[in-house]
Amino acid sequence: MEPIVEVKEVVKLYPIKRNFFGRVEKFLRALGGVSLKVYPGETLGVIGESGCGKSTLGKIILDLERLTSGKVLFKGKEIGKLKGEEYRVYRRNIQAVFQNPSNSLNPRMRIWEIVTEGLKINDDLEKEELLERARELIKMVNLSESSLFKYPHQLSGGQKQRVAIARAVALKPELIVADEPTSALDVSVQSQIVNLFLELQENLNLSYFFISHSLPVVEAVSDRVIVMYKGFIVEEGSSRDVFTQSAHPYTKLLISSLPGSRVKFKETGEESEVETGCPFYPRCPYRKKECLKFNVKLLELSESHRVACVLYS
Ligand SMILES: Nc1ncnc2c1ncn2[C@@H]1O[C@H](COP(=O)(O)OP(=O)(O)OP(=O)(O)O)[C@@H](O)[C@H]1O
Ligand SMILES: [Mg+2]
Repeated sequence: MEPIVEVKEVVKLYPIKRNFFGRVEKFLRALGGVSLKVYPGETLGVIGESGCGKSTLGKIILDLERLTSGKVLFKGKEIGKLKGEEYRVYRRNIQAVFQNPSNSLNPRMRIWEIVTEGLKINDDLEKEELLERARELIKMVNLSESSLFKYPHQLSGGQKQRVAIARAVALKPELIVADEPTSALDVSVQSQIVNLFLELQENLNLSYFFISHSLPVVEAVSDRVIVMYKGFIVEEGSSRDVFTQSAHPYTKLLISSLPGSRVKFKETGEESEVETGCPFYPRCPYRKKECLKFNVKLLELSESHRVACVLYS
């Protein structure tokens, strides 16, 4: 099967310090060379502590952020080279749902206008048709018809996120990049939104690139999971591989920490960043000298399971 999206060796450096003349003196490596594929109909879960590069990766897939090197392919074609209609098809096919619906919904637009905004731009539809489409969409995300003429502030957090999801599916995308879509919601509402994602996936044959801090949420929705650490994928496998047979020392630590909590480990007290070799070296209980020379790449453990760690080389 052809992947919808393929990320190849993507590196992202953010300039963080400039000298007097505006020349960049220091970069932050947000992504160190990431490769992955997302296939039709699947959910690829993304986990890893704050700052490891999850959102950067999501934004690069959405073309909301430029990459430093590497490429992103949409159905085999490099997105940086897509033009005109081809680029529009790509943008239409990959939609986003972000963490905070209060920030992502225009407060001055009514719900029906929000969910059909993309349709208005892409298709030449009359107001009546747009309203009809809005009705269908709102139903699809289990909101009542009365919400159509409301404004975002009149809805609860969960309802607003349903609106954001309706807007994302309006253009019948193949992939949705969901970046912490449940993290800003009350715990009681989180599972309802997770269920909505699952329901829509079944009905619309959607793929998800699903970023979350909540391990139980990722485990519930994902077919495959990638584990990131400081800009690298350190482990990749089926949900089962990663959650029940974690191989990377970092994944093991992550999984053993409290479910749903934001993960924070104690630094070892020594240097906490390494320029080369395994990014987890400073905190790894199994580290050895050769880890500093390790060229971070995923090694195959089984057909579905890969890990970037010298313990397995
Ligand atoms: N515009 C930017 N300029 C400079 N540095 C940035 C920028 N955006 C992100 N970063 C840095 O890049 C790294 C990766 O950030 P990113 O937002 O992708 O992490 P994340 O895994 O999504 O974290 P979180 O779980 O907190 O959302 C972090 O160190 C962050 O501080
Ligand atoms: Mg993020």
